[in-house]
Amino acid sequence: MAGRAVLAFSGGLDTSVVVKYLQEERGMDVVTVTVDVGQGGSAAATARRARALGVSRHHTIDARDEFVRGYVLMAIKANALYESKYSLATALARPLIAKKVVEVARRERATALAHGCSGKGNDQVRFDVTMRALSGLPIVAPIRDMDLDRPTELEYARRHGVRIERVAKKYSVDQNLWGRAIEGGPLEDAAAEPPPDAFEWVSTRPPARPVHVTVGFERGVPASLDGRRMRARAIIERLNRVAGAAGVGIVDHVEDRVVGIKSREVYEAPAATCLIEAHADLEKAVHTKHETRFKGAVDAEWAQLAYSGLWEDPLRASLEAYIERSQAPVTGAVRLRLQGGSARVVGRSSPRSLYSARAATYGRGSTFEQPRATGFVELWGLQSTEAVKLDGSGAARREVPRVRRGTRRPT
Ligand code: ARG
Repeated sequence: MAGRAVLAFSGGLDTSVVVKYLQEERGMDVVTVTVDVGQGGSAAATARRARALGVSRHHTIDARDEFVRGYVLMAIKANALYESKYSLATALARPLIAKKVVEVARRERATALAHGCSGKGNDQVRFDVTMRALSGLPIVAPIRDMDLDRPTELEYARRHGVRIERVAKKYSVDQNLWGRAIEGGPLEDAAAEPPPDAFEWVSTRPPARPVHVTVGFERGVPASLDGRRMRARAIIERLNRVAGAAGVGIVDHVEDRVVGIKSREVYEAPAATCLIEAHADLEKAVHTKHETRFKGAVDAEWAQLAYSGLWEDPLRASLEAYIERSQAPVTGAVRLRLQGGSARVVGRSSPRSLYSARAATYGRGSTFEQPRATGFVELWGLQSTEAVKLDGSGAARREVPRVRRGTRRPT
């Protein structure tokens, strides 16, 4: 026996092939771990699948609440969208799964950690970096090490009697309660519209009638839906269904992977779309303009770190100290109109709102005294207007009076 590997196991093509490989080619004893982060499907079926592959033990860990509390809530507070689009479902789950695998490896006295990531993606980075930060065990990644591609894997699976589902043959899917990522097959043509069978959460033919939902936040955390107090996880699960049915949450973009590849990515993230849209809107009502501007930079940095597998980097704790502090006034309610695939904020209210209709109104009786603006505007633009005059180019120069030749006084 060449030791014991603890493998992060989903039951899909990659990880099933890895079980067989570790056993057959490396002579290892394999223990599998499936972490429930809300990917759906039957945990019992995944366990049966692992046993059918001949693993010596299978662990199922329900980490859904931990996933929401320790990962998704911070993503909401950070309005986290990588490259302004991707709400990070896969990226957030990986460090948690890696942590659970390390915990099991300790209990099982394992000699190695294993995962089924390819060498072309981000997930290898997220698994490797977190595993290395939390454990000194070697990492085995057979798909990457052997440079396997899908056709070769399918062939290997067939030879070893591993059954593969129909969708797994067409797309590579990863999902959890924060979103669903669909890659591969027909989606690799970046110019072609995704076929309808790529989507499972979001209706591609939503009803014409709008649906309204109101999300209540407390210190940045989703705390109620349509006036009913609910736990954040329940709000997410419900919004995935309601907004998905309204066609909300499909994202299709070209994304920069850590390893430099540009990839066409398609996502379904109805709850994430609604919650980030609503949360960011509420923040803008309660934060000062200076807070709003600065937080945008902090948020982008946080998303970048989470995406690129550096969850354990101390920079995250520093960014989160700011983000957490900034949530103190983020309490209130945001109303969204879901229709035809869009989630549009149509109203917001908060006891901490800095919006004053009395000041902003164009109607009678504004509290804002217009004449006082004149001096302010002059000083506000002082340096800019001065610089334009001194910059000897463009339109400004033509307007500066010319000094006639020969009339200049000697200096
Ligand atoms: N591009 C996304 C990310 O890097 C999705 C990855 C999906 N992972 C997968 N194993 N299919 O987070």
